[in-house]
Amino acid sequence: MSGMHSTVETTIGIFQEKFGDASDVHVGWSPGRINLIGEYTDLNKGFVLPMAIDLGICVVLRHRARPGITAYAKAYDEVVECHLLTPEYDDLPAWIRYIAGVAVLSQEKGCPISGFDIAVHGNLPNGGGVSSSAALTTATALAMHSSVEWSQPPLQTAEMCQVVEHRFAGVMCGIMDQIACVMGKVDSAVFIDCQTLEVLTVPLKPGRSEVLIVDSGVPRSLHATDYNARRTECASAVAAIQALGVSIESLRNVDAGAFASVRGRLNKTLQKRVQHVITENTRVFEARRALEVGALEDFGRLMNESHESLRTDFQVSIDELDHIVTTAKACKGVLGARLTGAGFGGNAIVLIEPASTDEVEFDIKSRFAERFGRVPQTHRVGQTNEAYGRPLEGASKNKKSAEG
Ligand code: GLA
Repeated sequence: MSGMHSTVETTIGIFQEKFGDASDVHVGWSPGRINLIGEYTDLNKGFVLPMAIDLGICVVLRHRARPGITAYAKAYDEVVECHLLTPEYDDLPAWIRYIAGVAVLSQEKGCPISGFDIAVHGNLPNGGGVSSSAALTTATALAMHSSVEWSQPPLQTAEMCQVVEHRFAGVMCGIMDQIACVMGKVDSAVFIDCQTLEVLTVPLKPGRSEVLIVDSGVPRSLHATDYNARRTECASAVAAIQALGVSIESLRNVDAGAFASVRGRLNKTLQKRVQHVITENTRVFEARRALEVGALEDFGRLMNESHESLRTDFQVSIDELDHIVTTAKACKGVLGARLTGAGFGGNAIVLIEPASTDEVEFDIKSRFAERFGRVPQTHRVGQTNEAYGRPLEGASKNKKSAEG
C-alpha cells in the first residue's frame, strides 16, 4: 500500500472514531512540495520550478446542514468547533484557521457549503518547508467542493488557497506552493511564470537522479516576521528603483542592465535582495532548459549557486542548512544541493546519482550529528500522488483500479 493509500485509510478510521461513521464522506488529498529552484521569486512575479512529492495531507469531510465546522486533527489530537458566520479566528488554533479560511472564501465564491465535520491526518512534516499548510488548504478545498458538487478551475483553487494564507494566517506568501500542490503531476516538475500564471509541466526522467530531503530540525514559522520582512524589502526595492525613474512593476522587470544603472543608489541590503532575485530568475530558466535536455550536472550546479545566493544575498539560510549543503557537495555522486522553501529553518534538498544515495545519506547524517548533536530526519522523494477530492466510494473504486 502506498503512503497515500495508508494515510487515506487511517484518516477514514479517524473520522469514524470521532464522528461515528463514514457514510457520505468525501476524501481530499494533497501532496506537499519541494522547490527544485526559484526561491523568493514568486512574490516578485518571477519564475519557480517546484515539484509535488510523495508525502501529503488527507482530509475526510462530511457536509452537514448545521452551520459551522467540527474538526479533528490527529497531529494535535484536538476537536475544535468553529462558527463560520461569526468567526473569532484569532482565538482558534492555527491549523483550523486554514480550514475555516477555505470554507469562508469558498462561500464568498458561491460554493453552497453550510457546515461540515472534518478529520485531518497526513504524513508530511508540519512547518518544515514542504508546504504542509498549502497541502492542508488544497485537500480541504477539494474535499469540500466535492461534497457539494461544486468546482472551479485548478488555478482558481490555488489562488484561493493563497488568499487563505494572506487573510487567515497572516503570511504574505506567493503562489508557488499552492500551484505545486493543486497542479503538480507525477514524475514532473512544475514551471510557473508567477506574472502570467502560465503553468508548464516539465517531465523528469525517473531513475536518473534521486532527491533527498534533509530536515534541519529547526522549526520555521512562516508566520514569523522574517518572511514578510523579505517581502517588504523587495517592495521597498521596487519603490526605490521606480523613484530613480526606471519604469518597473516588480523585480521581475529589472534586468541586469537596468540594475547596473541604479545599483549604487540603493542601500546595501536592497542591492543584495535585488541581486538574488535577478540571478535566481535566470537560474530557473537555465535549470528548466537543463532538465529538458537531461543535463543534470548543469542542474546541480544551478542548485548550488541558488543556495549561495540565498545564503549571501537574500540571507535566509541558517548554519544547519549550510552544513547539510556543504557536506552534500563534498560527497561523491552529489549533483547539487540547496535549501528549499523559505529558509530560516526547514529543509535542504540534495540531488544525487542513485547509486550514491545510501552513502550520501549516511555522510550527511553522521556529519550533522557530530556538529549539532542530533541526527537529522531524511526522506527520499518517491512518486507523487496528484491532488484530488472525491466521494469515498470514488476513492475506493479508484484505489482498487490503481492497485489492479
Ligand atoms: C514559501 C512561500 C512561497 C515562496 C517560498 C520562497 O514557501 O509560501 O510562496 O515565496 O517561501 O521561495
